[in-house]
Amino acid sequence: MRAVDIIEKKRDNKTLSTEEISWFLDEYLKGDIPDYQMSSFLMSVYFNGMTKEELKEFTKKMIYSGDIIDFPEAHKFLIDKHSTGGVGDKTTIALAGLFSAFDIGTAKLSGRGLGHTGGTIDKFEAIKGFDFPKTKDEMIKAINATSTGIMGASEKVVPLDKKLYALRDVTGTVMSIPLIASSIMSKKLAVYADGIILDVKVGSGAFMKNLDLARELAKSMLQIGESFDRKVVAVLTDMDEPLGYAVGNSLEVIEAVETLKGNGPKDFTELCKTLVAVALQIKGDVKTLEEGKAKVEEIIKSGVAVQKLKEFIDYYGGNGELVNDYTLLPQAQNVRVVLAKATGYVARIEAEEVGKAAMVLGAGRETKEDNINHAVGIVLSKKIGDYVEIGDVIATIHYDDDKNLENSINMLQEAYKYSETKTEMTEVIKEIHSVNI
Ligand code: URA
Repeated sequence: MRAVDIIEKKRDNKTLSTEEISWFLDEYLKGDIPDYQMSSFLMSVYFNGMTKEELKEFTKKMIYSGDIIDFPEAHKFLIDKHSTGGVGDKTTIALAGLFSAFDIGTAKLSGRGLGHTGGTIDKFEAIKGFDFPKTKDEMIKAINATSTGIMGASEKVVPLDKKLYALRDVTGTVMSIPLIASSIMSKKLAVYADGIILDVKVGSGAFMKNLDLARELAKSMLQIGESFDRKVVAVLTDMDEPLGYAVGNSLEVIEAVETLKGNGPKDFTELCKTLVAVALQIKGDVKTLEEGKAKVEEIIKSGVAVQKLKEFIDYYGGNGELVNDYTLLPQAQNVRVVLAKATGYVARIEAEEVGKAAMVLGAGRETKEDNINHAVGIVLSKKIGDYVEIGDVIATIHYDDDKNLENSINMLQEAYKYSETKTEMTEVIKEIHSVNI
């Protein structure tokens, strides 16, 4: 076979055979196909997409490019809940308590944050002493003891994705639905879970800026799940404003704990209830989403979810007592309120801008090498639909040094968009699609 023939075939929108895809990716991984030929191939995919069979083979090669991790000795029904990334997304923290309360196991690799979105690993590392399992055996022990197995993303899982993503990043081929879908799904399928729940974020603060794109991505990921005979649910959720009120690592841990105590923000609580209800449906414990959500409400009222989160934090080396004493978390030295520059109903809160306003304080990383300050961040006071008068407090900034304070204040003020009429609150759950359930 010749690489150029395969590139030309894809360029001309003809269907590649599994042998051609397999050979092309093998040769690339070995270093026998150079980046310039792979770039050309990726650009052809960007324009012409991939058929179901092509996508299956492409994803299969990605999955088997590295280690496959499964957990045969984990005696739990395992769910991997994955989010495509948003601002203020502290869902994994709350689900650690909720899934455990229902004896649902979690097995997942999580990442660090970059740019305007935070990373789950960073959020847990706000907890002093917190240490993730480092090996598969430690992960299995953690799952059996606490239900929750979370470890940092490994270089050895789907190394082909790392190589391809770096190339896509500099060749204008990131925003290709089949390439994004295979990138995400290969990482999900290489780490075994009985069910996969994809929280596909939609809106200004998300990768997918509108519902059509998000739906297309969700369908492509479900199609891959179906090809590999896996149970997958895609939940399309709103990211036209930050999730909940808190943005910043320590502050998000507190909001997640409060949610498990029944005091969470409406949107975040609804998201958690829905995701757990979906997990219960996949597991076969409930028939309908409504039945599942009612069970989640009961478990929150009972206090079991927060107790389970406490046990999980203790097991991972932190002090679980923090669920009752937030001073055990890093605290910023100063707070500053941010005032509204206009009067009206909040129509939109540009989530990406809020994420950046938190990042410049030190809550996130501009480059991979940056260190994080876990204490700093932002707590919003107003959400979409709230009425605000000029000079009202719209947010509070928690900061340590004032180097970027004014910058952060300006970004927050600009992030809030107002209208004269009340904007309907957008529903956090937009659509749910599934395969094999
Ligand atoms: N996230 C991923 O893991 N891969 C992509 O291609 C895009 C977002």
